[in-house]
Amino acid sequence: MLSGTDPVKLMKQQVGFTAADRVQSGAIVGLGTGSTTAYAIQRLGDRLKSGDLKDIKGIPTSFQASVLAKQYGIPLTTLDEVDRIDVAIDGADEVDPQKNLIKGGGAAHTREKVVDSLAELFIVVVDSSKLVTALGTTFALPVEVLPMAIAPVTRALEALGGTVELRMGVKKDGPVITDQGNMVLDVTFAAIANPAEMEVTINNIPGVLENGLFVNVTDVVLIGEIKDGEAIVREM
Ligand code: 5RP
Repeated sequence: MLSGTDPVKLMKQQVGFTAADRVQSGAIVGLGTGSTTAYAIQRLGDRLKSGDLKDIKGIPTSFQASVLAKQYGIPLTTLDEVDRIDVAIDGADEVDPQKNLIKGGGAAHTREKVVDSLAELFIVVVDSSKLVTALGTTFALPVEVLPMAIAPVTRALEALGGTVELRMGVKKDGPVITDQGNMVLDVTFAAIANPAEMEVTINNIPGVLENGLFVNVTDVVLIGEIKDGEAIVREM
């Protein structure tokens, strides 16, 4: 029973652990970003320490993932060193019924898309609050932009019907700066009717590095939810 424990935290923990338990010895593992994936990284480290898992190498999608991997004793590698990623585990901000995603709540979607889309098996880990019928209905779409192009990209996104906000830091004055030294525009649309088309249209605006729409990339969605007072995990 949950008694006193934050249910969202429990859902994230269970789903993160379940994904990490699917990783096999010898795997090259894409390490996602965010509070849910952090539990998967923790579990991978625990499995390595106990000897249950051997010889894995992680490819981090962010500074955060790299710090956690080091903390939990997961050896790291880079895309220069390996020619495959066996499995990637990553969170999401929205998941639609076709397993398309909005990501970038942690401003890491550019590297996440590189790593997650290269993975032979991409496992998304979310709590049930992330499920939506249409993308863009609960979460603004993150777009990483070169700082010198913020003004023209903002105008281009407004011309597409979006309401655009420069993401600001928390406990830091001024905008969020990504791991690559860029800025993030959060774009609110009524709903995104055609995610595949929108992903390409936005990425074609000069100055845009990457947007948070992940279309046809996901293989498996694991969902943490509360049933009869217990945190359980189901596969979409
Ligand atoms: C970071 C992401 C995260 O995976 C996404 O924001 C979900 O985070 P959390 O697991 O903390 O809810 O896309 O850029």
